[in-house]
Amino acid sequence: MTQADFDFIQSLAYEETGIVLPARKKHMVYSRLSRRLRQLGLKSFSQYCQRVKSEPSELMNFVNALTTNLTAFFREEHHFDYLEKQVTPLWRRRRDKRLRVWSSACSTGEEPYSIAMTLADHFAGAEWDLKILATDLDTNVLNKASKGCYSEESITGLPQRYRDKYIKTTESGIQMKQSIQKMIHFKQLNLLQHWPMTGQFDLIFCRNVLIYFDNETKAKIIARFRQLLAPDGLLFIGHSETLTNISDEFELIGQTMYQPLRGNHNKLHTERNKAALC
Ligand SMILES: C[S@@+](CC[C@H](N)C(=O)[O-])C[C@H]1O[C@@H](n2cnc3c(N)ncnc32)[C@H](O)[C@@H]1O
Repeated sequence: MTQADFDFIQSLAYEETGIVLPARKKHMVYSRLSRRLRQLGLKSFSQYCQRVKSEPSELMNFVNALTTNLTAFFREEHHFDYLEKQVTPLWRRRRDKRLRVWSSACSTGEEPYSIAMTLADHFAGAEWDLKILATDLDTNVLNKASKGCYSEESITGLPQRYRDKYIKTTESGIQMKQSIQKMIHFKQLNLLQHWPMTGQFDLIFCRNVLIYFDNETKAKIIARFRQLLAPDGLLFIGHSETLTNISDEFELIGQTMYQPLRGNHNKLHTERNKAALC
């Protein structure tokens, strides 16, 4: 891989995904794209760069190869504890019975399924209108996520009550039950591009993806989350991420958990929300 190839890959990845690839990641880029070169029978990275330039359909494979998709069920467990113990009792008092959650970099689905299992006990009844939107840029991970099929090892440590209720064992591993799968809508969405959603979310998960972006990209995305988040909504980010120096529109309420700052505008909404409670 010549310096010119790496420069091209670096700037295309940044333009398309917001992902910053510093020089120290050259080895990682090399090994991830080498697989693609082999599949295509190409002999050099220069040929591959040429292919990406001339064939727009290769762009998706390029992006899929460069994303880091590490995830796990109930990763950063404190978020799910907070959701169960602090958020659920408040939501249960809501009169409108409409709840919207967005897992905005859902990878292979473990995050939205963990959210669904946490909320299903409380809000699965017919009177509740609960929807979880789960999006990612990478089409390969979304494909896996929508199947809801995982290895037995991936659920080690999953509370027994969730295994019993929401998971079945099959010959090829474990399968999320229909009751959980139907709570989640998987869609491709690039956080850098157009977001088709207009309604407000009660909870947004954006965990372990901001770390790949520079501050300018982080600030833009966080400002857009603010627009889509209900005044009493919550934003959860990853364990090594922070909104310090990124946004002054949120206040920290717990470990990497934020709520919109309550200015005058918010106060009005809060009054309205209070009135909406029983
Ligand atoms: C490390 S995984 C995090 C998964 C999960 N949120 C968690 O914390 O376990 C990061 C995910 O962000 C996705 N991603 C990277 N850039 C993105 C972008 N511009 N728009 C949407 N998703 C993106 C990747 O495809 C990857 O699946």
